Amino acid sequence: MFDRRVLLKQASLFAPFWLAGRSAFAAPDPKTGLIVHTLVPHNAEPPLGSLVQSWITPNELFYVRSHAPVPKVDADTFRLSVEGIVERPFEISLAQLQSDFKRQAVVATMTCAGNRRSEHSLVKEVSGVPWGAGAIGNAEWAGVRLSDLLKRAGIKEGAKHVWFDGVDEVEHKGGMIPFGASIPLDKAMSDTESMPGALVCYEMNGQPLSPDHGFPIRTVVPGYIGARSVKWLGKIIVSDRPSTNHYVAGAYKLVTEGTEDELASSPPLDNFVINSVTCVPAAGSKVVTGKLEVSGYALATGLQGETIAKVELSTDGGKSWTKARFTSQAKPYCWRLWKADLEVHARTSEIIARAVDSTGGVQPETVVWNLKGYMFNAWHKTSVRVSP
Ligand code: MTE
Repeated sequence: MFDRRVLLKQASLFAPFWLAGRSAFAAPDPKTGLIVHTLVPHNAEPPLGSLVQSWITPNELFYVRSHAPVPKVDADTFRLSVEGIVERPFEISLAQLQSDFKRQAVVATMTCAGNRRSEHSLVKEVSGVPWGAGAIGNAEWAGVRLSDLLKRAGIKEGAKHVWFDGVDEVEHKGGMIPFGASIPLDKAMSDTESMPGALVCYEMNGQPLSPDHGFPIRTVVPGYIGARSVKWLGKIIVSDRPSTNHYVAGAYKLVTEGTEDELASSPPLDNFVINSVTCVPAAGSKVVTGKLEVSGYALATGLQGETIAKVELSTDGGKSWTKARFTSQAKPYCWRLWKADLEVHARTSEIIARAVDSTGGVQPETVVWNLKGYMFNAWHKTSVRVSP
């Protein structure tokens, strides 16, 4: 087996060279069609124009966000362990997961908390993968309800959170740690008839998960940032507190200084933020005066029951707005695609998009800067060059 430490070291050694000049506007890789931010670990996103061709994002166009190289997992010997504050801890194989529990399929959007980070950097520099607005996708996930696994284990009194540990190895402070996450037990048990609070998933759009997306199993937590949907899931631990893993305790928090005190007092990020993005035309496109069809996506907060109710576009800096028409239904935890016909004038220089959700919540004009550039959801501005 390859030595992951060596690979990681090499990756970080060469990263600045590889990354020189790469951005969300870089040309996609001709083989995969994705814009590659880093090869190892793999971090890549689709060009926005291809992203909104369909409501369900094809697997090959789904963004990939990994903190470490893909771990090698043998599906035959692989076991998921369920432990912690439970009556009957157990281990289970992939085959048993598929045969012993009811299969549940659900369509849900996944998005990285760092989506649109490159725009955050325009306000003031932030660190992290310089994502454009393509770190988002909508897929049909299938697997087992997390609550069914927890019921088999028997949750004991005092349990409040459910931790997820991946089997990947991320370099952290000179050592190796798994990528980890946790969600409140209430969220894990908040199933409705059609929507699980969380899923232990083995299929994506009818295919077994690919190695990049977490083969053989991952969690999918509808409405929560992608960081809580742990790929290459190895352990579920029921606890009385949130996970102590770095990616819960020390990252994915809205902080400005990043001191230990500030991190300790900031809650872990969970739900999405309201967002909308114009995907076509691409930023910097040449357009002609007259009628212009634009299209994009919008996402509600991920709180139960909230959906996108309205998307509006402006070509005059926000003085007047044109309503978009929806090309997909309002579904909880899913993005909504839209199109609009705009009138472009010689003086038009940018298209602004903003969304309104079913509770009246409006996408903000600006956001408060944070150190890691998470949750960027200011009005989306697409520059255009107009010719008569
Ligand atoms: N799980 C593990 N084990 N390791 C990771 O690096 N990245 C997380 C999450 N789960 C990650 C992980 C983050 S930050 C995101 S946004 C999603 O996976 C991305 O999932 P995808 O690559 O399938 O799109």
